[in-house]
Amino acid sequence: MPIFIVFIWVVFLLCILTIVLLKWNVIMYKRNGLPPGTMGWPVLGETTEFLKQGPAFMKTQRSRYGSFFRSHLLGCPTIVSMDAELNRYILVNEAKGLVPGYPQSMLDILGKRNIAAVHGSAHKYMRGALLGLINPTMIRDNLLPKIDDFMRSHLSNWDNKIVDIQEKAKEMAFLSSWRQIAGSEPGSISEALVPEFFKLVLGTLSLPINLPNTNYRCGFQARQKIVTLLRSLIENRRSANSQENSKQPHILDLLIKGGAEGKYKLSDDEIIDLIITILYSGYETVSTTSMMAVKYLHDHPKVLEELRKEHVSIRARKKPEEPLTYEDCKSMSFTRAVIFETSRLATIVNGVLRRTTKDMEINGYIIPEGWKIYVYTREINYDPHIYPDPLAFNPWRWLDKNSENQHYCLIFGGGTRLCPGKELGIAEISTFLHYFLTRYRWEEVGGDKLMKFPRVEAPNGLHIKVSSH
Ligand code: HEM
Repeated sequence: MPIFIVFIWVVFLLCILTIVLLKWNVIMYKRNGLPPGTMGWPVLGETTEFLKQGPAFMKTQRSRYGSFFRSHLLGCPTIVSMDAELNRYILVNEAKGLVPGYPQSMLDILGKRNIAAVHGSAHKYMRGALLGLINPTMIRDNLLPKIDDFMRSHLSNWDNKIVDIQEKAKEMAFLSSWRQIAGSEPGSISEALVPEFFKLVLGTLSLPINLPNTNYRCGFQARQKIVTLLRSLIENRRSANSQENSKQPHILDLLIKGGAEGKYKLSDDEIIDLIITILYSGYETVSTTSMMAVKYLHDHPKVLEELRKEHVSIRARKKPEEPLTYEDCKSMSFTRAVIFETSRLATIVNGVLRRTTKDMEINGYIIPEGWKIYVYTREINYDPHIYPDPLAFNPWRWLDKNSENQHYCLIFGGGTRLCPGKELGIAEISTFLHYFLTRYRWEEVGGDKLMKFPRVEAPNGLHIKVSSH
């Protein structure tokens, strides 16, 4: 009998504990005027469901609570916006207090002065400095020749080989940026940088737990090594630059001189954070889009045929060793369409994060200060009203120039944070595709798995068998 009573008590206490745990977040975050939604468990919130179910979780919550609902994700109370109009409103209203809301691990590792960490006039200044280095004139006169030269060598000797296109695309994205930033250093500092950079990337996507061997700690240590390498490179360049005046200086040399027009004087710490920003922002976006373009082209022979026609006709006008010009890149309208369709269908970027700097009224609700807003753009990419037959890989839909500029297209973000590297990224992927398609054909080896959420990646690589034409 006493055992039975103890048992009843244990069950009773467990029930109370579960109710308290379930209600904990509801009580903690209770405010008047919040959007509908659920807050999940203490600390974890609904992160486990979100990461496990991915897009299905978002769709279920939308069907219950509408396109603007509350949740608790990745350790923070969060409003999820899946409404196309509101998404744009949030992105264009940074001045009203909707600043970037990226995780602490990302801010710690990318640096206090990286573009996502600064707001207002500091952001305007850093962004101006960056745009001065990667604008269309710079791409035409300075960066494209470096990209072209790099892609030719990166894409040589693939004949008759099995390559992991994911790995090659990652190397391509990092090394192409590095070539633009610092050139090809003898004794190659890039060899020391590459492994540290990969650790840094992993660290930015982790929980900020500062314990030995956590991704966060390793990422932070990698940042410190990268900072040391860059600091000594800046010192070397500073002394070398006083004698040398190259026609096509590297981004680092320009930064040391205050930008292409000498207008932006940055401290060494700012220069370092800007370089890390350039390397980081273009890395996963450019590499994953390139890998997925190769995947989709393989699966859609008609698209491949059309794209190859575009590139073969450009090459036919040139001598074999003649580099691509900016005008060639501008004429690649089908290539541009393939890049947009790849970004849309694969959803390389699921959305962007913002944070409120004060209590704010949005869509008739009051969003408390410090809450995150997840501008979740993924579902818009599959909206049949905007993209008829949304699951088809159909680059032709982008040939009408207006589709790229339509109101709801947030593939490259929007508002004051619109991707400053958009044209540079497109130029890199286009040049990569040019040399890949004009030199090779390929078959998938088969059996490789592709994950689409939370990031697009092939966990064991994407292997292809390559042969020359
Ligand atoms: C296919 C390639 C790319 C895609 C899909 C892409 C996408 C995006 C998106 C969606 C944002 C908005 C982030 C936000 O609002 O919080 C963004 C911002 C940014 N991107 Fe890109 N990006 C690409 C390539 C590049 C490249 C090559 C660079 C190199 C410089 C770059 C640099 C940046 C920077 C610095 C920002 C932050 C801008 C700011 O906060 O003012 N991106 N990108």
